[in-house]
Amino acid sequence: MHVVPLSGACGAEVHGVTLDQALTDEAVRDIRAAFVANQVLVFRDQDWSVDDQVAFAERFGELDEHPFVHGQPGRPHVLDIITEPDDTVNFGGGWHTDVTFLERPDLASVLYAIEVPPYGGDTLFASQRAAYAALSPAMQQILEGLTARHTAERQYGVGGQSTQSNAVGTKNPDLAATQVDHPVVLTHTETGDRSLYVNAAFTSRINGFSRAESDALLNFLYRHAVQERFTCRVRWAPGTVTMWDNRSVQHYALHDYAGHRRHMRRVTIKS
Ligand code: SIN
Repeated sequence: MHVVPLSGACGAEVHGVTLDQALTDEAVRDIRAAFVANQVLVFRDQDWSVDDQVAFAERFGELDEHPFVHGQPGRPHVLDIITEPDDTVNFGGGWHTDVTFLERPDLASVLYAIEVPPYGGDTLFASQRAAYAALSPAMQQILEGLTARHTAERQYGVGGQSTQSNAVGTKNPDLAATQVDHPVVLTHTETGDRSLYVNAAFTSRINGFSRAESDALLNFLYRHAVQERFTCRVRWAPGTVTMWDNRSVQHYALHDYAGHRRHMRRVTIKS
């Protein structure tokens, strides 16, 4: 296995491994170590059935079922994300971390490219570990011990942004207003590294602050967190697999390929 960094901040391409059901325990250990270190791993030219994707993801933990997005019939853990040529709203088209509105947000997402546009459709990732490390000690101290409220309402409630995308079928809008709290700075369960853990899609306010104070601080953190110096960019081809660590990156699916189709398949792994 050969691991080649994608940028100075995060992400690596992994060469020399076929992610089939014969993957050895040793290879899974190496992939996990590379995953935790690089936060985003890209594997090229994989030929995956749904079963292959599920079997690979299950080597890293139990699969999660999205509470607001329909999975495949009979396979609720598997999401098809299909942007048609005339769609104007894609899925994941804004900086976010997957499902932080859950009490136990996902450890990782595993996305497989089935059909990609001839240009565009890249996914950007931003290392929240690098973003946290770049804050001044004084700001790190302000954030210490703070918690923030997260909710799916703006994305999956009635009229929410994600409900306007045809790329997935959404469900349960009446349950989307539930709120949960998470630390503003998350300590990684495997490395002990600290990462910023607020995102514009699902975080609604910082607890204990007035609305104006919370908005000001969150807006600063949202802008800070996704600066170019913290990012890497994945260019997809059919057969590309990308696996990212939701404890320490945000991501953004670009929609710059109007007139073309993009079909991805996603599974997520519980923390
Ligand atoms: C997502 O946010 O999970 C979708 C990412 C993508 O389609 O690139």
